[in-house]
Amino acid sequence: MTPLHVVILAAGQGRRMRSRLPKVLHLLAGRPLLSHVIDAANALGGARVHVVHGYGGGIVREAMAGADVEWVEQSEQLGTGHALSLAMPGIPDGSIVLVLYGDVPLVNSGTLHETTTLAAGTGIALITTVVDDPSGYGRIVRDSNGNVRAIVEERDVDEEQRAIAEINTGILAAEAGRLRNWLQGLSRDNAQGEYYLTDVVARAVKEGLSVRTVPPEASEEVLGVNDRVQLAALERFHQRRVAETLMREGASLADPARLDVRGRVQTGSDVFVDVNVVFEGDVELGDRVSIGPGCVIRDTVIERDTEVRAHCVIEGAHIGVGCQIGPFARLRQDTRLSREVRIGNFVETKNATVGVGSKASHLAYIGDSRVGSDVNVGAGVVTCNYDGANKHTTVIGDNAFIGSGVMLVAPVTVHAGATIGAGSAIGKDAPPDALTLTRSTQRTVANWKRPRKG
Ligand code: UD1
Ligand code: MG
Repeated sequence: MTPLHVVILAAGQGRRMRSRLPKVLHLLAGRPLLSHVIDAANALGGARVHVVHGYGGGIVREAMAGADVEWVEQSEQLGTGHALSLAMPGIPDGSIVLVLYGDVPLVNSGTLHETTTLAAGTGIALITTVVDDPSGYGRIVRDSNGNVRAIVEERDVDEEQRAIAEINTGILAAEAGRLRNWLQGLSRDNAQGEYYLTDVVARAVKEGLSVRTVPPEASEEVLGVNDRVQLAALERFHQRRVAETLMREGASLADPARLDVRGRVQTGSDVFVDVNVVFEGDVELGDRVSIGPGCVIRDTVIERDTEVRAHCVIEGAHIGVGCQIGPFARLRQDTRLSREVRIGNFVETKNATVGVGSKASHLAYIGDSRVGSDVNVGAGVVTCNYDGANKHTTVIGDNAFIGSGVMLVAPVTVHAGATIGAGSAIGKDAPPDALTLTRSTQRTVANWKRPRKG
């Protein structure tokens, strides 16, 4: 197979974003635009990826740390042709070069594959599309037989060319040796005084090559981000596509326009997701899981038949089969719930395992805790895990009953079957199958007069 080199042009500042952040680091679906493009390049399989950076290059490289790419610096932005030529020394003749833009994040790898395959056959291929309003884009000039002759930039068109609706998306593929020659001959003799990559098309035609064009599957694939309005539009397009995939995989969405996925969601069948839910990172939903409105769920596995009610915030958790969570529950990092656990409103958990059938229905904090099965944690119970310097563990045995308002001062163990009286502060281990409580005697002051305002 012909080796493939992908060159991502990303040296522009993106002034219209009005941002200190380089444009390619603005987020789409929670990830920088550039990482979407790198993913698309990697999806082609076995490609070497080169990124041409300029403005804010240090920040860009840092943000992409870990990406397997060659970095090429373009210190002065002299045009797309110049940018590509800087990457060419790292690319051997005979390979196919595919040019992508760092600010065109939703490119489809099927369309890209078709483009590189055509280029391997004929020498050069481009993705072009017909639009209602071609202003701002390079126009595709064809002869009377429909063969591509050249690309003319907006600022260099004549009146006739201005009306051409077929535009250059900027994505092109060509054989490296030929491309190298064409690039060497580019001139800056144009309205912008730049080296235009697009001029290689006329040179290919001059050499008698037939320039092939590929349409995108959907026009949004080739849309670029120039300002925040376009960024938001692409975000919506992307979210719509993700929502459709989830629905096809078996999730019902109350409103596909009111779900945001910033990461990956794997769904079982007959899942229901209500409105205004955000999924982040890697989320797995088992069969028949139901997610209530307004939940934010990050890096979490939820097993089958579990119901998460309205307005829960869940991250780094593993929730077992048939649990009931919320409304208004907060499950934090390393919460592991077994089967049929109930975590109710205003309950917070962190680094906690909870056994089968246990319940904390209202207003509790369970942190750094090992809770057994069939435990009842009353309203207002707090595991006091932090002494101001260190975190300590609370252990609660099977079938224990913790009354309302109990402070469990860790490190502490409540043994199996123990009952803790409401309002107790428990700092020593509580024995099994007995009632333990700390409570001062109740007294009444008769004839007591409430203070009055003076
Ligand atoms: C370019 C194409 C135009 C096409 C349009 C599609 C050229 C000459 N024109 O125009 O035909 O219709 O894209 O959006 O190629 N970049 C660099 N270094 C540079 C200049 C640009 O890395 O010196 C990068 C930019 O960061 C950007 C991409 O190349 O990612 C395109 O540059 P831009 O200035 O937006 O080109 P357009 O004028 O839009
Ligand atoms: Mg542009």
